[in-house]
Amino acid sequence: MEGMALVPPYIANLRTYQPGRSIEEVRRTYGLTRVAKLASNENPLGASPGAVEAIARNLGGLNYYPNGGLDLRERLAREFDLKIENVIAGSGSDSIMSGIIRAFLGDDDEVLTTEAAFIGFQVLARSRGVTYRTVPYREWRYDLKALAGAITDRTKIIYLANPNNPTGTIFSKHEFDEFYRHVPERVLIILDEAYFEYAQDNPRYPDSMHYRYDNVITLRTFSKVYGLAGLRIGYGFAHEELIANLLKVKLPFEPSGPAQTAGIAALDDREFVHRALELNARSLRLITESLRRMSLEVVPSEANFVMVPLESARQAEWMTEQLLRRGVIVRPLGAFGLAHCLRISTGTDEENGMFLDAMEEIKRQESGFSSQESEYVGR
Ligand SMILES: Cc1ncc(COP(=O)(O)O)c(C=O)c1O
Repeated sequence: MEGMALVPPYIANLRTYQPGRSIEEVRRTYGLTRVAKLASNENPLGASPGAVEAIARNLGGLNYYPNGGLDLRERLAREFDLKIENVIAGSGSDSIMSGIIRAFLGDDDEVLTTEAAFIGFQVLARSRGVTYRTVPYREWRYDLKALAGAITDRTKIIYLANPNNPTGTIFSKHEFDEFYRHVPERVLIILDEAYFEYAQDNPRYPDSMHYRYDNVITLRTFSKVYGLAGLRIGYGFAHEELIANLLKVKLPFEPSGPAQTAGIAALDDREFVHRALELNARSLRLITESLRRMSLEVVPSEANFVMVPLESARQAEWMTEQLLRRGVIVRPLGAFGLAHCLRISTGTDEENGMFLDAMEEIKRQESGFSSQESEYVGR
């Protein structure tokens, strides 16, 4: 193709990110009235009402450029007892991650992470064209010992998501402390804590706010427990020199005014966060226990989703399709690099019920699937 010469090979060879299927599309394709979207780890209760009200009250001023996140940075600094120089805000933690890749990676540097890491990071790192190295999971958890052993002279960024997406697992304080001792100061650790709020009460969970290391940047988001994924608003904490460099490459006007207003108000909406966490804990328990009763493997999760490893990629595809026909959208993990796994986000009580009823029915059909599978194998 002629157009390919316009971009370097590492861009030409990328595949466009495929978001999960939308409720409307599934409704239309399968002729359904009720559809449960349990595919993108969103908040099933909707957005924080405090945030929505704050946006509605502040609609004047949309004709003016916003101030680059200054108000939210101030608010976050107060919330977490930091200086504003230690805080950055952006259009989702994705956007801050994109800035990190631009600011800190040279052409000869390597990034290091786990296999099948969060797809957002994979896309950003691969689009930079640097060497992308991984180590395998160990029982679906980051193998921090193996990662420490895989650091080379060229390693520049190590990406750790805790809790991890798509496995839902965490590494402990003790494991991180041990790992950190092996990381040279010239290596930047991205601690992606998008699901921090769901795990914070686990005594083993290392809240990275307590780490004040010069080479660690923590990323958090309003997309999950605050229900603001559609607005694009996230933040990060780090040493002021790291933040100063990130501010140099950040798009000047992000986050948007309404996103910033919503983020500030969401921090005060404790009641909503409490409700979301309570629903999630109940949902995780129900989904995990019910699927295990159906003889499925469920990876223990500390986030707002569970991962279910199946026997084969084909079984994962088949189950995804069967669930779609019954109005339930889940996430097959082929794009992450785990084609035999599904990820299911927690929903409302009603959505969880829809999903589990559908799974019961599908499991009853499974003998049908097995004979289909042996046909495939024969081809
Ligand atoms: C581990 C992880 N990091 C970051 C993000 C992206 O967050 P944001 O919406 O703030 O860009 C997600 C979203 O799914 C995620 O799972």
